[in-house]
Amino acid sequence: MSQSTDTLVPPSSVPDPEGGPRRYFVTSFGCQMNVYDGERMSEMLSAQGMQAADQREDADLVILNTCHIREKAVARVYSDIGRLKREDGSKPMIAVAGCVAQAEGEEIARRAPTVDIVVGPQAYHRLPQLIEQARSTRKTAVDTDMPAVTKFGALPGRARQPRPSAFLTVQEGCDKFCTYCVVPYTRGAEISRPFADLVEEAKALVDGGVKEITLLGQNVNAWTGDDASGRSQGLEGLIEVLAAMPGLERIRYTTSHPNDMTDGLIAAHRDIDKLMPYLHLPVQSGSDRILKAMNRSHNAASYLAIIDKVRAARPDIALSGDFIVGFPGETEADFQATLDIVRAANYAQAYSFKYSSRPGTPAADMEDQISPEIMDERLQRLQSLLGEQQQAFNQTTVGQRTRVLLEREGRKPGQLVGKSPWLQSVHVVAPGAGIGDLIDVELVSAGPNSLEGQALALVTA
Ligand code: SAH
Ligand code: SF4
Ligand code: F3S
Repeated sequence: MSQSTDTLVPPSSVPDPEGGPRRYFVTSFGCQMNVYDGERMSEMLSAQGMQAADQREDADLVILNTCHIREKAVARVYSDIGRLKREDGSKPMIAVAGCVAQAEGEEIARRAPTVDIVVGPQAYHRLPQLIEQARSTRKTAVDTDMPAVTKFGALPGRARQPRPSAFLTVQEGCDKFCTYCVVPYTRGAEISRPFADLVEEAKALVDGGVKEITLLGQNVNAWTGDDASGRSQGLEGLIEVLAAMPGLERIRYTTSHPNDMTDGLIAAHRDIDKLMPYLHLPVQSGSDRILKAMNRSHNAASYLAIIDKVRAARPDIALSGDFIVGFPGETEADFQATLDIVRAANYAQAYSFKYSSRPGTPAADMEDQISPEIMDERLQRLQSLLGEQQQAFNQTTVGQRTRVLLEREGRKPGQLVGKSPWLQSVHVVAPGAGIGDLIDVELVSAGPNSLEGQALALVTA
């Protein structure tokens, strides 16, 4: 599939961009790991001497960092490519990166010949060479390799961050092969980045002004690595070391798989103050029959048993999850079981999707695909229950005094918006405080998606 070799070219040996693109714009779709990848691509191109454009129209290199998880996400990529053509007939250099690039490879160039570069999620460290290749050959440069040498070693160190909260990918890929899901094919096998590299990257982020790090992985809690003394550690071992890092105030992680939710990680929610009380633990369905057909390898009872343990360790944990409605063969009774598990687990927040048939996955060939009307109707019922739970959770936090990390300016003059420990958006007016500060607030009112806080005291400035 790939037209390039597996050698890693250090950035310094990349040709001068003279005549090549000068201003780039990256749009990332999909999960937070794609957002992280988009940031790393931007930092690499800036290190090469290119500049970030303020808007897409000003860029002469546009990178669409795509997601393949559902059919709609893929359709969007092709319509976006079409829209990049300008009124005068010209177009920027177009790179398709991310999971659609990995899944469709050369096919993208056939379907959309205006695309100059197709680069997979494990190969984007080679973007500078691909830009050169596309320029000199005037043909689409395709690189969907999954090289044994990881991209991370070839990327420049982390730049100063514009926001106080940053992502850090610690684990990539998935070996779980849920029957509906493309991720094992687009992101490859599970790998964990080395402990020391992660500590180094976290330190660079903190030195660059970051106060909160969210550790990322398609199955982040499957992360494992050897610590400085050579002892094998799970994710909680990494969290413990990061928690001791001066200047880093908050740690989060996402997304977790129920099977990798170890007692050690659960205990970390009790023992490590800097680990925020929030857990995103997708269950997908409440029906054991459907979970089996999905190849989820947990059942409703084992999932709820994990939640019980987590709540025993950290009673105020905000629970989040993912759900799929309309998996092939899902009956009304199966769907009722999903509503039942939602009632039993009680979510603070959740993501729910209609099943989307993905070519090449086992579920795409299963009998009894569910009609769009039934899926719509089930999704609506599920979302209405999840919405009620979210509102109720937000309401339980009203009256509490808590700490907020300020992340951006709000719409009203003087207003700032930050995150509570439970990942709620909190609006607050706090004269003297700015983005990146932690402030103590009293939560005074709650809507479905955000809360209002009353400033009490500035903790850090
Ligand atoms: N590794 C994570 C999440 C990966 S994808 C996990 O196992 O939980 C994010 C979410 O997208 C999944 O949790 C699932 O709810 C949803 N998803 C994945 N494939 C899908 C499909 N074919 N149709 C609809 N939703 C899907
Ligand atoms: Fe997809 Fe399942 Fe892997 Fe999550 S665990 S990425 S849903 S295959
Ligand atoms: Fe989408 Fe790839 Fe993430 S398919 S959800 S961008 S791993």
